[in-house]
Amino acid sequence: MDTILKSTFELKSVVPWGRTLNEYCAFFQLTEDDLKKNILSIGDGPASFNSEMHQNGNRVLSVDPIYGFSKAQLQHRIEETRKEVMTQVRQNAEKFIWHTIKNPDELERIRIKAMQEFIKDFDTGKAENRYLYHEMPIPIEYADNSFELGLSSHFLILYSKLGLDFHIQSITEMLRLCNEVRIFPLLNLNAEKSEVLDAIIDHFNKIYTVEIKEVDYEFQKNGNQFLSIKK
Ligand SMILES: C[S@@+](CC[C@H](N)C(=O)[O-])C[C@H]1O[C@@H](n2cnc3c(N)ncnc32)[C@H](O)[C@@H]1O
Repeated sequence: MDTILKSTFELKSVVPWGRTLNEYCAFFQLTEDDLKKNILSIGDGPASFNSEMHQNGNRVLSVDPIYGFSKAQLQHRIEETRKEVMTQVRQNAEKFIWHTIKNPDELERIRIKAMQEFIKDFDTGKAENRYLYHEMPIPIEYADNSFELGLSSHFLILYSKLGLDFHIQSITEMLRLCNEVRIFPLLNLNAEKSEVLDAIIDHFNKIYTVEIKEVDYEFQKNGNQFLSIKK
């Protein structure tokens, strides 16, 4: 399976950009109890969430196809795309709310610090099976209900172009493994309501408890809601 995944997933298609534990806590409304749960986090990329949780004695399994690449390859890709991303952020500054994060320079500092933290932890975390090289929606080799909480930050729903089937299959797989799934944000990459959101809600509403929850975190304009799906 490894070879098939590597041949289909190219690192140059990824623009690595990682968020912190503080940000995950804010936009997923994670309580002290939530942080103690066994967590599955899909599309974690170069976020420092896993590393920071681990340092606090908490357990997260992060899943992402970029974990099939080496630390040097990931570091190189982060450096390669950093300028490009920051140019885009500056050109589209009006699409963001510069409140908690004051300006693009501060954003760059926070993101680079998070990604350096991830890079520092990557080899150890991989050896400890905290970073799993895997591409959704392929089933993950864990038994049903192995996790209490499943998270997707800035991947599912946001990448609406992957199509509704991709999202339904990926969320279905997360719900096979987790009691509850939370997805943030509910926008697409143009910061508009995601095209797949209503159909996802309709689909899972028939079987599970589905709620949209508002949070205090708002960086992308109108990006202040997450979707909770509970069994
Ligand atoms: C914008 S990044 C979000 C990173 C992190 N969750 C955060 O919020 O800081 C999106 C991530 O989704 C990952 N991704 C893309 N396709 C995927 C797939 N099929 N299965 C799992 N992850 C995928 C990418 O590799 C990338 O790391």
